[in-house]
Amino acid sequence: MSIEQLAETAQAMVATGKGIIAIDESSSTIAKRFAAVGIENIEENRRAYRELLLTTPKLDDYISGAILYDETIRQSTKDGVPFAKYMADHGMIPGIKVDKGTYPLAGFPGEVVTEGLDGLRERLEEYYRLGARFAKWRAVINIGDDVPTGTCIEANAHALARYAALCQEQGLVPMVEPEVLMDGEHDIETCYEVTEATLRSLFGALYEHNVLLEGTILKASMVIAGKECKEQASVEEVAESTVMCLKSTVPAILPGIVFLSGGQNDEDATAHLNAMNQMGTHPWPLSFSYGRAMQQAAMKLWSKNMSGNFAKAQETVYARARDNGLAAVGQWKPSP
Ligand code: 13P
Repeated sequence: MSIEQLAETAQAMVATGKGIIAIDESSSTIAKRFAAVGIENIEENRRAYRELLLTTPKLDDYISGAILYDETIRQSTKDGVPFAKYMADHGMIPGIKVDKGTYPLAGFPGEVVTEGLDGLRERLEEYYRLGARFAKWRAVINIGDDVPTGTCIEANAHALARYAALCQEQGLVPMVEPEVLMDGEHDIETCYEVTEATLRSLFGALYEHNVLLEGTILKASMVIAGKECKEQASVEEVAESTVMCLKSTVPAILPGIVFLSGGQNDEDATAHLNAMNQMGTHPWPLSFSYGRAMQQAAMKLWSKNMSGNFAKAQETVYARARDNGLAAVGQWKPSP
């Protein structure tokens, strides 16, 4: 795989006015999401739900690709079309989550490191054969008393860099995701400092591991106050702090940055992205790779009546894609 092909895929992922839908919840995470709305967590429900999302009519108007989970990339529509093929036939790039989740970082209470490097080369080879053209690895950085430590930030950056290098070797664009969690009472300034240190460490590690930035996408968390913080920042403050933090840490050669929603409500996730794009042009396209902020309304509707609400739930997915697609070019307007 040439760097030109990787760069082409990366650019297509952040095509103007388009973003990514993250539907790569692991079996344990989807179990939690289903339980919250009363959906039974069986394989057929997981398959049918992912079919609902991926076959939303005209989804590719605003969606360039989707991140799938290992189980999902092996599943098909009810008519027997593998999801990855369905996506490629409908103008969307299949992606795959390849990390194996977070585990406590030994010796560092309250901190985690993402695992999944063992056997990754072989797994990537298989995912490429199954149709994936990009892969995601999520590192998690907690904010708390004396946390994060430099050791935790570095351990996660190192793993992200090793994963990214393996992806490029196997012809997949790495989507590197260092998520600074919104959990906690910390203020927006603390989030800024932690995000800055995390991104600095990440891009240092990518450089050390010969990762080609032209064929890499950053999935970032926004610079935002913790959920329990009494002083919540305004939409403009979040947008300005996030853009400033990214500008001071992310090389301009990167093809694009997409955001996770991280527990923000739908409207906030859209408003923050829109405000960033209204600030003018940036060195990279700023778009979205939302999971919850793309899906939660649809999942709720579907849970109430799986066959009766199927089309209505798809309309909700399309509406969320449109709102976020417009926000990716700074043209979204809140509904009155
Ligand atoms: P959220 O948008 O729900 O945070 O999920 C995005 C994601 O893929 C996290 O890894």
